[in-house]
Amino acid sequence: MGQSFTTLRWEERSLVLLDQTKLPEQEVYLVCTDYRMVADAIRRLAVRGAPAIGVAGAFGVVLGAFELIQNPKDFFAGLEAVFAELAGTRPTAVNLFWALDRMKKVVVARRAEAPAVVAAALEAEALCLYQEDIDTNRRLGTHGAALLQDGMTVLTICNAGALATVAHGTALAVIRAAVQEGKRIQVVACETRPLLQGARLTTWELMKDGIPVTLITDNMAGYLMQQGQIQAVLTGADRIAANGDVANKIGTYSLAVLAQAHGIPFYVAAPMSTFDLTLPDGQGIPIEERAAEEVTWLRGQRIAPDGVAVYNPAFDLTPARYVQAWITEKGVFRGQAGKIKLMDEGSTD
Ligand code: MRU
Repeated sequence: MGQSFTTLRWEERSLVLLDQTKLPEQEVYLVCTDYRMVADAIRRLAVRGAPAIGVAGAFGVVLGAFELIQNPKDFFAGLEAVFAELAGTRPTAVNLFWALDRMKKVVVARRAEAPAVVAAALEAEALCLYQEDIDTNRRLGTHGAALLQDGMTVLTICNAGALATVAHGTALAVIRAAVQEGKRIQVVACETRPLLQGARLTTWELMKDGIPVTLITDNMAGYLMQQGQIQAVLTGADRIAANGDVANKIGTYSLAVLAQAHGIPFYVAAPMSTFDLTLPDGQGIPIEERAAEEVTWLRGQRIAPDGVAVYNPAFDLTPARYVQAWITEKGVFRGQAGKIKLMDEGSTD
């Protein structure tokens, strides 16, 4: 199951991104040569998905640092502005802030050194985050595959695949691992309005891998569950609070409630970097609101009257009580009376 595309890569001191706003029609790569381009790409969802925007943000810092070397006396003050610009792009996925914090630690540790040395250390750290993401997702996939049985149909929302990470994905890493173990798994992808990450991205990458996928509109999920056509719901996450509450793409909460009503397990797959243990529960997770045009326009076509009032939250909150298991690179966590514990060792609290 070799990946025939790269979501992002570092090449000749540029961040090369597969422009996800153009998929599935065009496979076009965006070459970001400065940090402002990276910030813009994150804001526009040219690169998206919690782990991918974390790694992209880290390389944004590297681009900022190399630019600032030209002007050494403003280096550290300039870097702060770079961090602020990247941190201001999208508020919900904690992986972005986690990755920027890792980069900040490098700056703090090397504050006495020459700007060129700091920039090189930042580049090494970003490359490390890149490789860690690949390894983490592979491990996470293997742990989660144990929850999927041969013949299952799994429903997912948005894109928690290779396109949302450096490689493999989170929810889709679990499916890929199960398929590699020889299990016959079918995927049902919710289209995921308003920006159609399910229709445009999840179907695209699963079809490339030859994994059977059926596309439905978001409002069809309940009917399929009622008909007994879904055996598990599996999603990614943008931020998970200490008690296991999950912020993920808008529509996830509805699926979790529907799954519970039909006795179907609801699983969340995410790396440990998606856990925000500073938040006791999900209430403190900032939910991004995006432009009205994402709802009133569809692929360049107006679909609602000009001037209509619109509300466009990009994420929602699924309380921990709806989640059967949180799949991570450390193993599978289960919920017990508001505390989530690793099935075999340790806990998040
Ligand atoms: O707005 P997006 O496309 O960045 O939202 C992405 C999601 O909600 C994903 O499910 C989440 O980031 C996990 S990706 C492995």
